[in-house]
Amino acid sequence: MLQETTTVLPGIKQFDLTGRAAIVTGGSKGLGLAMAAGLASAGANMLLVNRTADEGARAADELSRHYGIRALSFSADITDKDQTEAMARAAMEAFGRIDILINSAGINIRGPIDEISPADFEKVMRVNVTGTWLCCRAVTPYMKESGRGSIINLASTLGLVGLGNRTPYTASKGAVVQMTRALGVELAPFNINVNAICPGPFLTEMNLPIADTEEGQKFVVGATVLGRWGHLREIQGAAIFLASDAASYMVGSLLTVDGGWTAR
Ligand SMILES: NC(=O)c1ccc[n+]([C@@H]2O[C@H](COP(=O)([O-])OP(=O)(O)OC[C@H]3O[C@@H](n4cnc5c(N)ncnc54)[C@H](OP(=O)(O)O)[C@@H]3O)[C@@H](O)[C@H]2O)c1
Repeated sequence: MLQETTTVLPGIKQFDLTGRAAIVTGGSKGLGLAMAAGLASAGANMLLVNRTADEGARAADELSRHYGIRALSFSADITDKDQTEAMARAAMEAFGRIDILINSAGINIRGPIDEISPADFEKVMRVNVTGTWLCCRAVTPYMKESGRGSIINLASTLGLVGLGNRTPYTASKGAVVQMTRALGVELAPFNINVNAICPGPFLTEMNLPIADTEEGQKFVVGATVLGRWGHLREIQGAAIFLASDAASYMVGSLLTVDGGWTAR
Protein backbone atom coordinates (compact mmCIF):
# COMPACT_ATOMS: atom_id res chain seq x y z
CA MET A 1 0.00 0.00 0.00
CA LEU A 2 1.22 3.51 -0.76
CA GLN A 3 2.17 5.36 2.41
CA GLU A 4 1.00 8.71 1.14
CA THR A 5 -1.53 9.34 -1.56
CA THR A 6 -0.48 12.87 -2.35
CA THR A 7 2.69 14.95 -2.46
CA VAL A 8 0.67 18.15 -2.18
CA LEU A 9 0.69 19.21 1.46
CA PRO A 10 -1.19 22.49 1.72
CA GLY A 11 0.10 24.95 4.28
CA ILE A 12 3.44 23.22 4.85
CA LYS A 13 6.48 25.36 4.09
CA GLN A 14 9.29 22.85 4.08
CA PHE A 15 12.12 25.39 3.98
CA ASP A 16 10.72 27.73 6.62
CA LEU A 17 13.04 28.18 9.62
CA THR A 18 11.00 30.81 11.44
CA GLY A 19 11.56 30.59 15.18
CA ARG A 20 14.35 28.01 14.90
CA ALA A 21 17.66 28.68 16.65
CA ALA A 22 21.02 28.00 15.02
CA ILE A 23 24.66 28.02 16.05
CA VAL A 24 27.02 28.80 13.18
CA THR A 25 30.70 28.37 13.97
CA GLY A 26 32.97 30.38 11.70
CA GLY A 27 29.93 32.58 11.17
CA SER A 28 31.88 35.84 11.19
CA LYS A 29 33.00 35.60 7.57
CA GLY A 30 33.30 33.53 4.39
CA LEU A 31 31.08 30.50 3.89
CA GLY A 32 29.93 30.55 7.53
CA LEU A 33 28.56 34.07 7.22
CA ALA A 34 26.98 33.27 3.85
CA MET A 35 25.21 30.21 5.29
CA ALA A 36 24.18 32.20 8.38
CA ALA A 37 22.62 34.79 6.07
CA GLY A 38 20.83 31.97 4.24
CA LEU A 39 19.35 30.66 7.48
CA ALA A 40 18.43 34.22 8.51
CA SER A 41 16.62 34.73 5.21
CA ALA A 42 14.53 31.66 6.07
CA GLY A 43 13.69 33.13 9.50
CA ALA A 44 16.16 31.50 11.92
CA ASN A 45 17.70 33.24 14.93
CA MET A 46 21.35 32.48 15.54
CA LEU A 47 24.54 32.58 17.53
CA LEU A 48 27.63 33.25 15.42
CA VAL A 49 30.78 31.75 16.90
CA ASN A 50 34.39 32.63 16.22
CA ARG A 51 37.47 33.82 18.09
CA THR A 52 37.74 37.45 16.92
CA ALA A 53 35.01 39.16 18.94
CA ASP A 54 34.63 42.39 16.94
CA GLU A 55 34.27 40.56 13.59
CA GLY A 56 31.60 38.25 15.03
CA ALA A 57 29.72 41.20 16.56
CA ARG A 58 29.78 43.11 13.27
CA ALA A 59 28.43 40.11 11.35
CA ALA A 60 25.66 39.52 13.91
CA ASP A 61 24.62 43.21 13.79
CA GLU A 62 24.48 43.12 10.01
CA LEU A 63 22.29 39.98 9.94
CA SER A 64 19.93 41.30 12.64
CA ARG A 65 19.44 44.60 10.84
CA HIS A 66 19.07 43.12 7.38
CA TYR A 67 16.84 40.13 8.12
CA GLY A 68 14.97 41.26 11.25
CA ILE A 69 15.98 38.14 13.17
CA ARG A 70 17.99 37.84 16.41
CA ALA A 71 21.66 37.24 15.66
CA LEU A 72 24.17 37.31 18.52
CA SER A 73 27.88 36.65 18.52
CA PHE A 74 29.86 34.50 20.92
CA SER A 75 33.61 34.41 21.12
CA ALA A 76 34.99 30.88 21.49
CA ASP A 77 37.82 28.69 20.33
CA ILE A 78 36.20 25.47 19.12
CA THR A 79 39.28 23.44 20.02
CA ASP A 80 38.53 24.00 23.72
CA LYS A 81 35.92 21.67 25.26
CA ASP A 82 34.85 24.13 27.96
CA GLN A 83 34.40 26.92 25.42
CA THR A 84 32.22 24.75 23.15
CA GLU A 85 30.06 23.84 26.14
CA ALA A 86 29.80 27.54 27.05
CA MET A 87 28.79 28.19 23.43
CA ALA A 88 25.89 25.74 23.68
CA ARG A 89 24.81 27.19 27.03
CA ALA A 90 24.88 30.70 25.56
CA ALA A 91 22.57 29.61 22.72
CA MET A 92 20.19 27.98 25.21
CA GLU A 93 20.18 31.11 27.38
CA ALA A 94 19.50 33.35 24.39
CA PHE A 95 16.95 31.25 22.51
CA GLY A 96 15.85 28.44 24.85
CA ARG A 97 16.57 25.90 22.11
CA ILE A 98 19.21 24.71 19.63
CA ASP A 99 17.70 23.38 16.41
CA ILE A 100 20.64 23.74 14.05
CA LEU A 101 24.43 23.56 14.28
CA ILE A 102 26.55 24.50 11.30
CA ASN A 103 30.21 23.62 11.80
CA SER A 104 31.93 26.02 9.42
CA ALA A 105 34.97 27.05 11.49
CA GLY A 106 38.04 25.63 9.83
CA ILE A 107 41.62 26.32 8.75
CA ASN A 108 44.01 25.21 6.02
CA ILE A 109 47.80 25.05 6.07
CA ARG A 110 49.29 24.14 2.69
CA GLY A 111 52.69 22.79 1.74
CA PRO A 112 54.71 19.77 0.64
CA ILE A 113 54.78 16.99 3.23
CA ASP A 114 58.50 17.41 3.86
CA GLU A 115 58.06 21.12 4.58
CA ILE A 116 54.94 21.03 6.77
CA SER A 117 55.72 20.70 10.46
CA PRO A 118 54.07 18.10 12.66
CA ALA A 119 52.76 21.01 14.74
CA ASP A 120 50.98 22.46 11.70
CA PHE A 121 49.51 19.05 10.83
CA GLU A 122 48.16 18.72 14.34
CA LYS A 123 46.84 22.29 14.34
CA VAL A 124 44.71 21.63 11.25
CA MET A 125 43.43 18.34 12.65
CA ARG A 126 42.71 19.99 15.99
CA VAL A 127 40.50 22.73 14.53
CA ASN A 128 38.86 20.88 11.64
CA VAL A 129 38.33 17.49 13.27
CA THR A 130 38.48 17.82 17.07
CA GLY A 131 36.81 21.24 17.00
CA THR A 132 33.95 20.01 14.82
CA TRP A 133 33.56 16.95 17.05
CA LEU A 134 33.54 19.06 20.24
CA CYS A 135 30.81 21.34 18.84
CA CYS A 136 28.68 18.32 17.85
CA ARG A 137 29.25 16.90 21.31
CA ALA A 138 28.28 20.17 23.03
CA VAL A 139 24.87 20.51 21.33
CA THR A 140 23.87 16.84 21.33
CA PRO A 141 22.37 16.73 24.88
CA TYR A 142 20.11 19.71 24.10
CA MET A 143 19.00 18.26 20.77
CA LYS A 144 18.33 14.86 22.36
CA GLU A 145 16.30 16.58 25.06
CA SER A 146 14.15 18.45 22.54
CA GLY A 147 13.83 15.42 20.27
CA ARG A 148 15.04 17.15 17.13
CA GLY A 149 18.04 18.77 15.50
CA SER A 150 20.08 19.32 12.36
CA ILE A 151 23.87 19.26 12.33
CA ILE A 152 25.67 20.37 9.18
CA ASN A 153 29.41 19.79 8.95
CA LEU A 154 31.61 21.54 6.41
CA ALA A 155 33.71 18.91 4.72
CA SER A 156 35.17 19.68 1.28
CA THR A 157 35.79 18.25 -2.17
CA LEU A 158 39.18 17.63 -0.58
CA GLY A 159 37.52 15.16 1.76
CA LEU A 160 36.61 13.16 -1.34
CA VAL A 161 39.50 13.56 -3.79
CA GLY A 162 43.20 14.23 -3.39
CA LEU A 163 45.22 17.35 -4.15
CA GLY A 164 48.94 17.79 -3.62
CA ASN A 165 50.39 20.01 -0.90
CA ARG A 166 47.23 19.58 1.18
CA THR A 167 47.88 16.52 3.39
CA PRO A 168 46.71 18.07 6.70
CA TYR A 169 43.59 19.57 5.16
CA THR A 170 42.55 16.55 3.07
CA ALA A 171 43.15 14.22 6.03
CA SER A 172 41.00 16.46 8.23
CA LYS A 173 38.16 16.73 5.73
CA GLY A 174 38.19 12.98 5.07
CA ALA A 175 37.76 12.59 8.81
CA VAL A 176 34.85 15.05 8.81
CA VAL A 177 33.18 12.96 6.07
CA GLN A 178 33.43 9.81 8.18
CA MET A 179 32.48 11.62 11.39
CA THR A 180 29.35 12.83 9.61
CA ARG A 181 28.38 9.34 8.53
CA ALA A 182 29.04 7.78 11.95
CA LEU A 183 27.25 10.54 13.86
CA GLY A 184 24.41 10.50 11.35
CA VAL A 185 23.86 6.83 12.12
CA GLU A 186 24.23 7.38 15.87
CA LEU A 187 21.86 10.32 16.20
CA ALA A 188 19.17 9.45 13.64
CA PRO A 189 17.18 7.51 16.29
CA PHE A 190 16.96 10.79 18.25
CA ASN A 191 15.53 12.63 15.24
CA ILE A 192 18.81 14.51 14.83
CA ASN A 193 20.00 14.71 11.22
CA VAL A 194 23.74 14.94 10.67
CA ASN A 195 24.90 15.73 7.15
CA ALA A 196 27.81 17.45 5.44
CA ILE A 197 28.30 19.96 2.68
CA CYS A 198 31.35 19.44 0.47
CA PRO A 199 32.10 22.80 -1.10
CA GLY A 200 34.38 23.28 -4.06
CA PRO A 201 36.49 26.44 -4.34
CA PHE A 202 35.03 29.68 -2.97
CA LEU A 203 37.12 32.81 -2.84
CA THR A 204 37.13 33.46 0.91
CA GLU A 205 40.03 34.54 3.12
CA MET A 206 41.04 30.90 3.37
CA ASN A 207 41.84 30.87 -0.34
CA LEU A 208 43.43 34.31 -0.62
CA PRO A 209 46.96 32.83 -0.56
CA ILE A 210 46.26 30.93 -3.80
CA ALA A 211 43.78 33.32 -5.44
CA ASP A 212 46.16 34.80 -7.98
CA THR A 213 48.60 31.95 -8.31
CA GLU A 214 48.98 29.54 -11.19
CA GLU A 215 48.28 26.69 -8.76
CA GLY A 216 45.01 28.32 -7.69
CA GLN A 217 43.82 28.77 -11.25
CA LYS A 218 45.08 25.48 -12.69
CA PHE A 219 44.49 22.93 -9.92
CA VAL A 220 41.70 24.49 -7.91
CA VAL A 221 39.45 26.62 -10.11
CA GLY A 222 40.53 24.56 -13.14
CA ALA A 223 39.37 21.37 -11.43
CA THR A 224 35.74 22.50 -11.58
CA VAL A 225 33.56 21.83 -14.61
CA LEU A 226 32.31 25.42 -14.45
CA GLY A 227 35.86 26.78 -14.44
CA ARG A 228 35.20 29.44 -11.81
CA TRP A 229 35.08 30.15 -8.09
CA GLY A 230 31.70 29.62 -6.43
CA HIS A 231 29.69 32.70 -5.51
CA LEU A 232 28.98 32.87 -1.77
CA ARG A 233 25.22 32.87 -2.41
CA GLU A 234 25.64 29.48 -4.12
CA ILE A 235 26.29 27.74 -0.78
CA GLN A 236 23.16 29.12 0.87
CA GLY A 237 20.55 26.79 -0.62
CA ALA A 238 22.39 23.68 0.55
CA ALA A 239 22.56 25.03 4.11
CA ILE A 240 18.89 26.06 4.21
CA PHE A 241 17.87 22.69 2.81
CA LEU A 242 19.90 20.59 5.27
CA ALA A 243 18.74 22.75 8.20
CA SER A 244 15.08 22.42 7.24
CA ASP A 245 12.31 19.84 7.53
CA ALA A 246 12.82 19.16 3.82
CA ALA A 247 15.96 17.18 4.73
CA SER A 248 14.29 14.83 7.22
CA TYR A 249 15.26 11.75 5.17
CA MET A 250 18.95 12.78 4.90
CA VAL A 251 21.21 10.79 7.24
CA GLY A 252 24.98 11.09 7.04
CA SER A 253 24.74 12.44 3.49
CA LEU A 254 27.29 14.48 1.60
CA LEU A 255 25.99 17.36 -0.49
CA THR A 256 28.61 18.53 -3.00
CA VAL A 257 28.44 22.18 -4.05
CA ASP A 258 31.58 22.16 -6.10
CA GLY A 259 31.02 23.42 -9.62
CA GLY A 260 31.36 19.85 -10.84
CA TRP A 261 34.83 19.12 -9.41
CA THR A 262 33.86 15.61 -8.26
CA ALA A 263 31.43 14.89 -11.12
CA ARG A 264 34.19 13.67 -13.44
N1 LIG B 1 36.49 28.43 0.91
C1 LIG B 1 36.51 27.28 0.30
O1 LIG B 1 36.80 27.21 -0.90
C2 LIG B 1 36.14 26.02 1.03
C3 LIG B 1 36.05 24.85 0.27
C4 LIG B 1 35.71 23.66 0.92
C5 LIG B 1 35.48 23.66 2.28
N2 LIG B 1 35.61 24.82 2.98
C6 LIG B 1 35.35 24.76 4.42
O2 LIG B 1 34.32 25.66 4.75
C7 LIG B 1 34.54 26.19 6.06
C8 LIG B 1 34.56 27.71 6.00
O3 LIG B 1 35.64 28.12 5.18
P1 LIG B 1 35.84 29.63 4.74
O4 LIG B 1 36.44 29.62 3.42
O5 LIG B 1 34.60 30.39 5.01
O6 LIG B 1 36.96 30.09 5.79
P2 LIG B 1 37.35 31.54 6.34
O7 LIG B 1 36.76 32.61 5.49
O8 LIG B 1 38.82 31.50 6.56
O9 LIG B 1 36.60 31.58 7.76
C9 LIG B 1 36.97 30.69 8.77
C10 LIG B 1 36.12 30.99 10.00
O10 LIG B 1 36.45 30.04 11.02
C11 LIG B 1 36.73 30.76 12.24
N3 LIG B 1 37.67 29.97 13.01
C12 LIG B 1 38.89 29.49 12.61
N4 LIG B 1 39.47 28.81 13.62
C13 LIG B 1 38.60 28.84 14.67
C14 LIG B 1 38.64 28.32 15.99
N5 LIG B 1 39.69 27.62 16.46
N6 LIG B 1 37.58 28.56 16.80
C15 LIG B 1 36.51 29.25 16.36
N7 LIG B 1 36.41 29.77 15.13
C16 LIG B 1 37.47 29.57 14.29
C17 LIG B 1 37.25 32.12 11.76
O11 LIG B 1 37.11 33.16 12.71
P3 LIG B 1 38.29 33.55 13.75
O12 LIG B 1 39.59 33.47 13.01
O13 LIG B 1 37.93 34.91 14.23
O14 LIG B 1 38.20 32.54 14.85
C18 LIG B 1 36.29 32.36 10.59
O15 LIG B 1 35.06 32.84 11.08
C19 LIG B 1 35.85 25.57 6.55
O16 LIG B 1 35.57 24.43 7.32
C20 LIG B 1 36.53 25.18 5.26
O17 LIG B 1 37.45 24.14 5.44
C21 LIG B 1 35.94 25.99 2.40
